[in-house]
Amino acid sequence: MNIVDLVGNTPLLELSKISLKPGKPRPSGVVLYAKAEFCNPSGSIKDRAAKAMIREGIAEGTLGPGKTIIDATSGNTGIAYSMIGAALGFPVKVFLPANASMERKGIMRQYGAEIVETSPLEGSDGAYLAVREEVEAHPEKYFYPNQYNNDANWKAHYQGTGREIWEQTQGTLTHFICGMGTSGTFMGTSRRLKELNPGVSMIAVQPDSPFHGIEGTKHMASTIKPGFYDEKQADAFLEVNTEEAYQLARRLAREEGIHAGVSSAANVLAALKLAETLSAPAVIVTILCDTGMRYVSDQFWYGNGGGSS
Ligand SMILES: Cc1ncc(COP(=O)(O)O)c(C=O)c1O
Repeated sequence: MNIVDLVGNTPLLELSKISLKPGKPRPSGVVLYAKAEFCNPSGSIKDRAAKAMIREGIAEGTLGPGKTIIDATSGNTGIAYSMIGAALGFPVKVFLPANASMERKGIMRQYGAEIVETSPLEGSDGAYLAVREEVEAHPEKYFYPNQYNNDANWKAHYQGTGREIWEQTQGTLTHFICGMGTSGTFMGTSRRLKELNPGVSMIAVQPDSPFHGIEGTKHMASTIKPGFYDEKQADAFLEVNTEEAYQLARRLAREEGIHAGVSSAANVLAALKLAETLSAPAVIVTILCDTGMRYVSDQFWYGNGGGSS
């Protein structure tokens, strides 16, 4: 077995204690599950998409000896490429905003990847535009998965995440809710679940402002939309506030023993808000996108606002 074989088949955790307001129980009959994607070998859900895109590149012959894997990423996909590149023997070059967390940049370098830092003011769009320029200048050098426009990204979740959630809940889920970066997780998972049961509600989570601290997610209305993003795939949208997500990340660690990143906390926050609107028995499933260990130096853990440094 290779480390890459450990990607996927993550556990589904029941979050039995946490509620929207501390001390006020959730509405009875509403069960909340969260897919523990931090159990993937590089610590995030992005292992699934990175593995699928790299495997497809090898199968189609666009990735082979002498090629470097290159892409723009807010961090987790870069860590996933770095881990898989090291395991399979390909060099990796990652473009990312300079303000991505110290831990993320360190992990990529420790896997042997090269990092190119782009303007923090331009966010993930700046990294995306810079990598395109580099690939256009030297196409022969690179395998460019382009996670924002590669169908293997969402299909990894169609074939993996969505199917696993269906099996792990024995088809009993009523709501799937999660945030979007490339939107691969939401698009692929919701597509599979809708096919299996059109009655399951798909709720997309969005930061409530273009300037937010929910790392890994996009405020779709104000950024370049991923090529495979289809807003009609969502039955509803739910907005979350960064400060509330920070607070929930702290509570998840203390109340559930789950040390997860802010986008995971934003997902759980949205799921708890949704739970408050439901009266009938319901089974909500959301995603714990990555481990919180890679944000340990972020100030939000201490209640001081936040962002990465
Ligand atoms: C921490 C984190 N959460 C959520 C996401 C969103 O996942 P997706 O790109 O599948 O929409 C990402 C994507 O990079 C991420 O890094």
